[in-house]
Amino acid sequence: MKIAVIGGGPGGLYFSILMKKARPEARIDVYERNRPDDTFGFGVVFSDETLDTFLGEDPETYEAIAGSFAYWDEIDFVFKGETIRSDGHGFCGCGRRELLLILHDRARALGVELHFEVEIDGLDQFADADLIVAADGVNSAVRTRYAEHFKPDIKWQRNHFLWLGTDRPLDAFTFDFAENEHGIWVGGGYQYNSDLATWIVEAPEATWASAKAELEGFTGDETLAYMERLWARSLRGHRFVANQSAWRVFPTIHCANWHFGNIVLIGDALHTAHYSIGSGTKLAMEDAIALVRAIEGGPSVPAALECFEEARREDSEKIQHAANISVTWTENPHRYWHMAPIQAAFSMLSRSKQVTYDNLRLRDEGFVERVDRWFAEQVREKGHDVPLDPAPPPMFTPFSLRAMTLVNRVVVSPMDMYSAEDGALGEFHNIHFGGLALGGAGLIFSEMTCVSRDGRITPGCAGLYKPEHIAGWRRIIDFVQAQSDAKFAMQIGHCGPKGSTGIGADAMDSPLPSGNWQVIGPSAVPFKRGSHMPREMSLADMDEVRAQFVAAARMADEAGADMIELHMAHGYLLSSFITPVFNKRTDDYGGDLAKRMRFPLEVFDAVRAAWPADKPISVRISATDWIGADGITGDDAVAIAKLFAGAGCDLIDVSAGQTTPDAEPVYGRMFQTWLSEQVRNEAGIATIAVGNITTSDQVNTILAGGRADLVALARPHLSDPNFTLRASAEYGYEAQRWPLQYESGKEQAFRLAARARAEDAQRRAAMRPRSHRRQAAE
Ligand SMILES: Cc1cc2nc3c(=O)[nH]c(=O)nc-3n(C[C@H](O)[C@H](O)[C@H](O)COP(=O)(O)OP(=O)(O)OC[C@H]3O[C@@H](n4cnc5c(N)ncnc54)[C@H](O)[C@@H]3O)c2cc1C
Ligand SMILES: Cc1cc2nc3c(=O)[nH]c(=O)nc-3n(C[C@H](O)[C@H](O)[C@H](O)COP(=O)(O)O)c2cc1C
Repeated sequence: MKIAVIGGGPGGLYFSILMKKARPEARIDVYERNRPDDTFGFGVVFSDETLDTFLGEDPETYEAIAGSFAYWDEIDFVFKGETIRSDGHGFCGCGRRELLLILHDRARALGVELHFEVEIDGLDQFADADLIVAADGVNSAVRTRYAEHFKPDIKWQRNHFLWLGTDRPLDAFTFDFAENEHGIWVGGGYQYNSDLATWIVEAPEATWASAKAELEGFTGDETLAYMERLWARSLRGHRFVANQSAWRVFPTIHCANWHFGNIVLIGDALHTAHYSIGSGTKLAMEDAIALVRAIEGGPSVPAALECFEEARREDSEKIQHAANISVTWTENPHRYWHMAPIQAAFSMLSRSKQVTYDNLRLRDEGFVERVDRWFAEQVREKGHDVPLDPAPPPMFTPFSLRAMTLVNRVVVSPMDMYSAEDGALGEFHNIHFGGLALGGAGLIFSEMTCVSRDGRITPGCAGLYKPEHIAGWRRIIDFVQAQSDAKFAMQIGHCGPKGSTGIGADAMDSPLPSGNWQVIGPSAVPFKRGSHMPREMSLADMDEVRAQFVAAARMADEAGADMIELHMAHGYLLSSFITPVFNKRTDDYGGDLAKRMRFPLEVFDAVRAAWPADKPISVRISATDWIGADGITGDDAVAIAKLFAGAGCDLIDVSAGQTTPDAEPVYGRMFQTWLSEQVRNEAGIATIAVGNITTSDQVNTILAGGRADLVALARPHLSDPNFTLRASAEYGYEAQRWPLQYESGKEQAFRLAARARAEDAQRRAAMRPRSHRRQAAE
């Protein structure tokens, strides 16, 4: 077998080593344009898990790398002058140059042919190769030449960065934020040998825009001096050094196809993951491992390349996704700048969803105790009696809006049960809400309750449009208030263009087979092909709908609701005014965001005036249409939230989408939470996060990181109405009220959970990769 490898970076070299081990008879040539000891940049980091993978693949390279490591477990977070340290992370840093020299030696020893100072500018010379591995890095000429086959997609990240080094000893992986007249700067680094640490400087967009003119006029030395002034406190008299350092922007590369004929891309040539999660070299070396395995398992090169892509794509996309989420933090440091350093540190550590409240507790219990304590102190400052030693997990702390106090932060999200008749509730609703009330959540939402008969989405939707509807709700609310600590919020809404539709997954959003009614909207724009064509609302229609909302709010008050929520999400009437997808009006109720917000704000004002002053109001919004700049974006959601906050709104329930069939949501765990985080921290209003939040660990991660004040779960409550009770047992939180009648269940659940916690801790301690630093010390 004859293999040509273009590019002698970590990906190409590691591939050639593993391939030569697997097929000693193969001829493998590696072509590298640089000299053997040329290198750019300074160091790379590997986690303990990655090192263990290397150990399994080739103990010789592992041991050589291990010999030139700098190890650490700690992450330091330097924020507004305070340093917060967290432990148990397990990383090693080594110089890129050292890594390449180790890989050269090993490749040579195995019989790989290394050709340095050879620039490859076409593949014709490899006509007789069975396989061409293009490991030619981020600017891959092979990828560019065959772009029509690989179909690369390149997204430029927003920050400018500069890769420096420093002789300042760093005993922890460090994130270090600085501020000057141009704005916030992101810095940070890690030690990779006994003398040097990598230090990467990032200028977020606003900082760059302000500093650009000055920086671009600088010589290299002036740039270093500038950065030394900025981080003078952290450098403690040490210096920065440059190494071909130039301001760059990071490209996130994704290829639709990974191979073409007998050519395959690996490493940065194929896909990049932003360096903030330090995974680029790992990605390249893991590609090498997967490619060798595929070749060993495949009957032919084309089949092997197919297997390689199939086996590896999901893992690599997960890393890219984590990296994309991770950069949100460093691209928007202003969003977190108001936070206390301990919360900012937690938020940063948990930014890519891989580190969570629970697994951070396993890494560094003391750190999470500090977070809990800080969180509890904030709650105490608001006048609540919360213990500090130990402080409860954030989900079990109270939260107040106006005169309403919730005993915990778990919310049953609104869920239409489509089981009402002419808006009236039945026995199903009593049992359904009764079960939820006993389950322990702090706040329970009604389903969307429609303000008029024609405002229903389906014939099964609940209503508050006839006086007799009040009794049905009062019965439920009385039960909730008498038998639990939960508060009850009524969500009221009007279907708008998305009404008069069927019940059930197949019929959802489609007109009824018969008995349809005229739907209305801001404009004559249907939701999708085949949907009803709404009648454009007149000013008289608006007056009527506004009055209906007020009447429904009064009925909700009569029924005893503790809070009211106006449904302005998911393409229903008030949402359809907000989003440009539906609203094409040319009068004062359409056009820019301010005009599109006019009717929703009028409704809000009218309801606020009618609703008791001591009871809170929330508004549910679709914080994005998931269609990019043509629809509502996170930035618009901030503007919308500010407008409602100014009008006296207490809480924004941050949902997303369902406004257009063209939406392209990016699903995943907690997939909408970033919108709640943006709204809460940029608009300065309390929020509810919702959407694929399924565990109490996620609830605590969201709350502790300041991503929301309350966390709503919909579907998880259908499978487990006792979600909160179960969580209280999992965390050993005794103060959560269980129904008196359930006491024996409580005792058993706490006992079993305590045993499970102990077993889990033992199992994890046994499985946890030993810190290589500790290992070296032993
Ligand atoms: C600021 C920054 C910080 C980073 N920090 C980390 C980190 O801490 N940890 C980490 O794991 N990763 C980090 N990375 C990413 C890491 O450097 C890359 O992901 C990794 O080097 C990819 O390896 P590779 O073998 O695919 O490509 P490369 O290392 O880029 O190697 C490609 C090689 O191909 C050669 N080449 C290209 N074209 C030709 C040609 N036509 N002919 C001959 N030779 C050619 C190049 O000279 C180069 O040596 C960082 C990246 C940046 C930008
Ligand atoms: C059966 C069902 C009915 C729903 N009905 C409503 C509703 O009436 N009002 C509303 O705002 N959202 C409604 N939603 C959306 C949920 O409140 C929630 O935002 C969504 O399901 C995402 O949360 P989850 O991943 O926890 O289910 C409904 C969801 C489900 C599953």
